[in-house]
Amino acid sequence: MHIAVVGAGSLGSLLGGLLAREHDVTLVGRDPHVDRVDADGLRVTGVESFRVSPAARTDIPDSADLALVAVKSYDTGSVAAQLADCDLDACLSVQNGMGNEERLADALACPVLAGTCTYGARLEAPGTVAFTGRGEVVLGPREGGRSAVADRVGEAVATAGVETTVATDMPTRLWEKLAVNAAVNATTALARVENGALAAGAGGSLAADAARETARVARERGVDLADERAVSLTREVVRDTAANRSSMLQDVAAGRRTEIDAINGYVVRAAAQAVPVNETLTRLVRTWAAGTDAA
Ligand code: PAF
Repeated sequence: MHIAVVGAGSLGSLLGGLLAREHDVTLVGRDPHVDRVDADGLRVTGVESFRVSPAARTDIPDSADLALVAVKSYDTGSVAAQLADCDLDACLSVQNGMGNEERLADALACPVLAGTCTYGARLEAPGTVAFTGRGEVVLGPREGGRSAVADRVGEAVATAGVETTVATDMPTRLWEKLAVNAAVNATTALARVENGALAAGAGGSLAADAARETARVARERGVDLADERAVSLTREVVRDTAANRSSMLQDVAAGRRTEIDAINGYVVRAAAQAVPVNETLTRLVRTWAAGTDAA
């Protein structure tokens, strides 16, 4: 299968590297990392160590069987516009935050699948990505239910040795992932701690409060997500990724723009009632951004 992995950040590079062991992968990005991959191949180190040679380029190819979108949520609109000219059979978003699939589906003629990914990755140097934790890719039709396209894409991803589940309840899965990201990302970014610092204590209870608020907003929107489930999922991810720096902490540490608007900011916008924890986390991250060039 020809897979265009759009977004050569840490997650896109790791998934691109894993998929390239089995498929014809084109990694699309715009940083020196992509030039290096194009010249010397991609080195994956950590949980598994290997080198692969995917094609790497800065523009979207004319066609692909699958576009796997791994860009930051604030870039989804521009990527959707570029993908509109690409001849695709399917598109899969594995991005953080909410609303990405809708933006892609508005622009594309092919089926757009929703996905979540809990693999841990960190860009070490141009051409090198650290594989910091094995996780799972969960994917399926964005409106829920089954589809032949989702089954085919799930099989292709699984064939490359990536832990994969094809799910029939993606709307709930996306809210579950949002609850975890709302609990973990801003909290770890603001406190400058690894995910494991949220296992207990003040950080743990702040994260649990953010997860509970997110679950309440999910229920307001008709998604069956209990507070206890949102909190226990958050605890699981904190335990399984204890030594990882969340993507938002990596962004803040590098002085880059964050995905706050698609995570805690989304919860605030979607809420019918007050969500003070998510609101405060959003305002604090925006305060940080306003004091830097990262806004
Ligand atoms: O954004 C992230 O960092 C990840 O989605 C997660 C699951 C919170 C683990 O760090």
